[in-house]
Amino acid sequence: MNILCIGDVVGKAGRKALTELLPQLQEEYALDAIIANAENSAGGSGITPRIANQFFRLGCTVITLGDHVWDRQELVEYLKERKAILRPANYPSGTPGKGWCVVETANGSKIGVINLLGRVFMRYNVNCPFKTAEDVIKEIKKVTNIIVVDMHAETTSEKVAMGWFLDGKASAIFGTHTHIQTADEKVLPKGTAYITDVGMTGPYDSVIGQNKEKIIKRFLTSMPTRFEVAKENPVVHGVVVEIDDITGLAKKISRVQRSLL
Ligand SMILES: [Fe+2]
Ligand SMILES: [Fe+2]
Repeated sequence: MNILCIGDVVGKAGRKALTELLPQLQEEYALDAIIANAENSAGGSGITPRIANQFFRLGCTVITLGDHVWDRQELVEYLKERKAILRPANYPSGTPGKGWCVVETANGSKIGVINLLGRVFMRYNVNCPFKTAEDVIKEIKKVTNIIVVDMHAETTSEKVAMGWFLDGKASAIFGTHTHIQTADEKVLPKGTAYITDVGMTGPYDSVIGQNKEKIIKRFLTSMPTRFEVAKENPVVHGVVVEIDDITGLAKKISRVQRSLL
């Protein structure tokens, strides 16, 4: 089966790129599932239930989030109600929502998806993502071998370490959060597809999604500046992973970069 994993959807430009480019990607790659990190899809901060519904209608199978999960108050109830929208699994127990799910595709295959949050240079104290991944994978393996992990983290080292740690245990690990696609996609020796960051689905002519002039001004002056989500050059960035339906191991990983320009 073919699964598209896309990087952080940012603002209106990201929603536009996804809406306009997803149909052609679905056809071109004969996609069985789409996993989208959408933690910045509502004005650059968080996601609203309305936008999440829109993404499900577009064909997204599972929505993953990250450190921006709590930016929109109205999402808390939605996270409890809907099965296929995840906040990181390594939040403390008792946190609303869920960090993993198993969903069924149109052809009847079951896919497990896990969302994790890194701990290095992140603003929240969360449980160990490595131990959490290990525990959750044990649970999902009772139902399916097809397991995709969104590792939402700041540093390349923490994400690379997670890739090696889960090699042979998951079908694919895709990194998110830094909004810049890395060129290290590969299938690891024991059969897990890996990329450090899938990139951003949003305005590419920007500083990781924000208006470049405002960010440059902040770097030049160190004065507080109100950020503004950029609009220019909407793109979809992600990877398509080809997975063996039975073993759950990856056969191939390909980077995707599409622009509306
Ligand atoms: Fe993000
Ligand atoms: Fe993030």
